[in-house]
Amino acid sequence: MNFTRQDFPEGFQFGVATSAYQIEGHGVGGAGQTHWDSFAATPGNVAKGENGATACDHYHRMDEDLDLVAGGNFDVYRFSTSWARIMPEGRGPVNQQGLDFYDRLVDGLLERGVKPALTLYHWELPSPLADAGGWCNRAMADWFADYVDVVAGRLGDRVWSAAPINEPWCVAWLSHFEGHHAPGLRDIRAAARAMHHVLLCHGRAIEVMRSHGMGNLGAVCNFEYAQPVDDSPAAHRAARTFDAIYNRFFLGGLFRGAYPQAALEGLAPHLPDGWERDFATIGQPLDWLGLNYYTRKVIGPTGGAWPGYAYQDGPLPKTDMGWEIYPDGLGHFLRLAHEHAPDLPLYVTENGMAAPGIRDEDRIAYVDAHLAQVRAALAKGLPVAGYYLWSLLDNYEWALGYDKRFGLVHVDFETLDRRPKLSYERLKLALTRP
Ligand code: FCB
Repeated sequence: MNFTRQDFPEGFQFGVATSAYQIEGHGVGGAGQTHWDSFAATPGNVAKGENGATACDHYHRMDEDLDLVAGGNFDVYRFSTSWARIMPEGRGPVNQQGLDFYDRLVDGLLERGVKPALTLYHWELPSPLADAGGWCNRAMADWFADYVDVVAGRLGDRVWSAAPINEPWCVAWLSHFEGHHAPGLRDIRAAARAMHHVLLCHGRAIEVMRSHGMGNLGAVCNFEYAQPVDDSPAAHRAARTFDAIYNRFFLGGLFRGAYPQAALEGLAPHLPDGWERDFATIGQPLDWLGLNYYTRKVIGPTGGAWPGYAYQDGPLPKTDMGWEIYPDGLGHFLRLAHEHAPDLPLYVTENGMAAPGIRDEDRIAYVDAHLAQVRAALAKGLPVAGYYLWSLLDNYEWALGYDKRFGLVHVDFETLDRRPKLSYERLKLALTRP
């Protein structure tokens, strides 16, 4: 690493992130079925048909994994609770075993001097709620509020920070318009409803958590830089539409009580009735804003129906995901986030790369390059307060299964043995406390 902790302001938080379905092993501990289980069981959706039934078996290896977090000198551990582990039917009865697991997780972090950063939804929707329309159904706001109430009641006194939903764009657009994630829909009406309901659920969850006296509440959005494929007006227009849907829709809803015009052009006819009235709930005051950032997209026009853009192959070096490495984009989005939320501290809540191998010099260079953007932003006075790596462990990379390795720690998916990579060792040194 080309930095140390001392190159950052006092109190800057370095963290590492995971999510429930990607590491725990959903097949154990009384967790209910989720839409990811059935999505993965449908041929053609996930590489090799893999699912999260075993994943990293974190459910049984939590202590070892928390030792790795603490041993890497990280200040914060960002994790998620699984709705279906806590409420197997999505509503009603609570699986005490599941809640106890997260209770031990939070205490285990605190005992090790690591701050627990909770996310309440990282994509595994309980199947009975998916059957009832999932994110397309406005009732999600009530169901989610009930689940958040249960988690807040048990963990709210000890978590350091909390965010309701990981990456609204993926929950809504990637999953209901592009069809790449569960529930695998390609339907503009479903997508528009999900785009709005995901924000409504966010707002309701913030209200519930505040009512429990919880503080340090935020939102975690993902961003990809929109690079027009050429200088034509059509390419610029296509990139603007992409940028509105991907990057500006959720910021607009959260901080401006409005959706960008370039997104409404196609979505307005499909939004649920009375959507404008929900901004009072959606725009709950927040304590921080989280950015997940990995890459950019090169965008060209299709000449076809709205949204009328297509992803093109880009010229920059790529990660194992095929994602172009474009650190400048992180600087761009820190500025955009600050424009929307000038009073809030910003956290990079995910950043990292998929790369094979244990001597992962490429990952080290990727992290260095992105942290250089963070330092440049800090030098210009932007209130960046933390940076979290994705991810602690190689894990279930959703539709791409177990082949894409984002971990600082290698996982052998036959034996489930953990082995720190070079990046982990280097970070541990860089983050040594004086
Ligand atoms: C993000 C997700 C995370 C992981 C990384 C690579 O979009 O939040 O679960 O899949 O991408």
